[in-house]
Amino acid sequence: MTIRWRHLLALVIILPLLGFGFAWSGLMGVGASSGHWPITNWFLHWVMRNSIRTAALSITVPSLENPELLPPAAGHFETGCAICHGSPAQGRSDAVLAMLPPPPDLKTVAPTWSDAQLFQIVKHGVRFTGMPAWPAQARDDEVWAMVAFLRKLPEMDTNAYLQASGLHGIGHAGEVSPLPITCESCHAEKRLNGNSIIPRLAGQQEAYLLNSLRAFAERQRPSGIMEVAIGALPDDSLPELASYYARQARPPRQGIPADPRLVEKGRELAEKGRPEEKLPACLSCHEKPGGNPAYPRISGQNAAYITRQLQLFHAGVRGGSSFSHLMIEVAAKLKEEDFAALAAFFASRESVGP
Ligand code: HEC
Ligand code: HEC
Ligand code: HEC
Repeated sequence: MTIRWRHLLALVIILPLLGFGFAWSGLMGVGASSGHWPITNWFLHWVMRNSIRTAALSITVPSLENPELLPPAAGHFETGCAICHGSPAQGRSDAVLAMLPPPPDLKTVAPTWSDAQLFQIVKHGVRFTGMPAWPAQARDDEVWAMVAFLRKLPEMDTNAYLQASGLHGIGHAGEVSPLPITCESCHAEKRLNGNSIIPRLAGQQEAYLLNSLRAFAERQRPSGIMEVAIGALPDDSLPELASYYARQARPPRQGIPADPRLVEKGRELAEKGRPEEKLPACLSCHEKPGGNPAYPRISGQNAAYITRQLQLFHAGVRGGSSFSHLMIEVAAKLKEEDFAALAAFFASRESVGP
């Protein structure tokens, strides 16, 4: 009996030492050229699918029907995902196909995952494979937009993809590749309407635009989409972009359908606030003659974008410039039902001062 115990103890000590020695010797191949053995391949993929299935069990799926989720996600897909996975506008390169494991064609594999599972993969990435995590972990709404896009991807032909991602209509119709995504692919006035979750930039305060761009670049304002969009730009181009958009006239919008009672409720809050709850009037900061030029204009902005920003401020995840804490304090005092009223009021108002 004693001898058996000794043998076991020796094994427990010697086996890890042997393994360690083998790793130290450098004889273990780490080259990707020969691939994995089929059994290793099967095992790794099995582990991945199990892990994602279990993690996805606790995820609640929101409605993904809103068509406005597609444009920002499609534009981001082109810059952040297509380089590995290919897209309806470009195949996967030989260099990418030599990765171990190679990034799969998502048109084929996306339907094998549920919405919650896709969310888990896109938000957290897949360790040891090259599949990156979403750059802004603080918010989930952008990841859900990407899931909505991946659901539509299998049925998208090249044209539908070019249209959704904004590659179409910027003078490249007919040419398929290479088509760089620009700011205008997402922010062009003609692509935006009141339901857009992408903001209008034309006519916004220059100081605010510059602060926002710097906040995205420094990850003070979480947005995976905007981080990637400006990631490759040199720092000194940010003032030029801010000035370019601030100088554009914001074309007025006619006939935005809005419930007049909602607009009235929004006006009341914007002009008077709720003094009994120490909620200040929005217009005591925003668009105030002689006010701080780093405070943004809200009038004429897309209603759905305003609502989303209020939700993010309210949840405490919308960062921004060194003034953003002011807005976080205000939004903490807002109620869910205020968001739509405020958005309806500001979206239907022509941009004014300061
Ligand atoms: C640097 C390359 C790279 C980039 C960029 C990348 N991926 Fe991946 N992705 C991979 C690889 C490699 C896998 C395979 C993982 C595996 O099979 O274990 C993968 C797997 C996936 C899967 C699971 C598919 C399956 O069945 O294995 C999804 C979904 C996915 N990626 C979506 C995305 C999205 C959306 C983006 C952009 C936000 C993205 N990926 C960006 C490399 C990449
Ligand atoms: C793939 C789509 C996409 C591209 C490309 C893109 N943006 Fe954006 N942009 C967005 C989205 C979505 C938001 C909203 C982010 C949020 O929810 O915080 C945004 C927000 C912004 C804001 C903040 C505006 C505000 O009112 O707070 C600025 C400024 C901006 N973008 C400028 C740019 C510039 C300049 C470029 C080009 C270098 C660019 N964007 C490229 C999608 C895009
Ligand atoms: C105490 C001053 C102050 C008050 C009051 C205030 N805000 Fe703000 N708000 C700000 C500042 C400052 C920012 C910009 C934060 C940044 O630079 O990132 C902002 C940003 C915003 C944004 C984001 C704009 C964009 O383009 O992304 C919205 C929407 C907004 N405020 C709506 C409101 C509404 C609605 C009210 C009234 C309920 C309100 N604000 C009251 C200071 C204020």
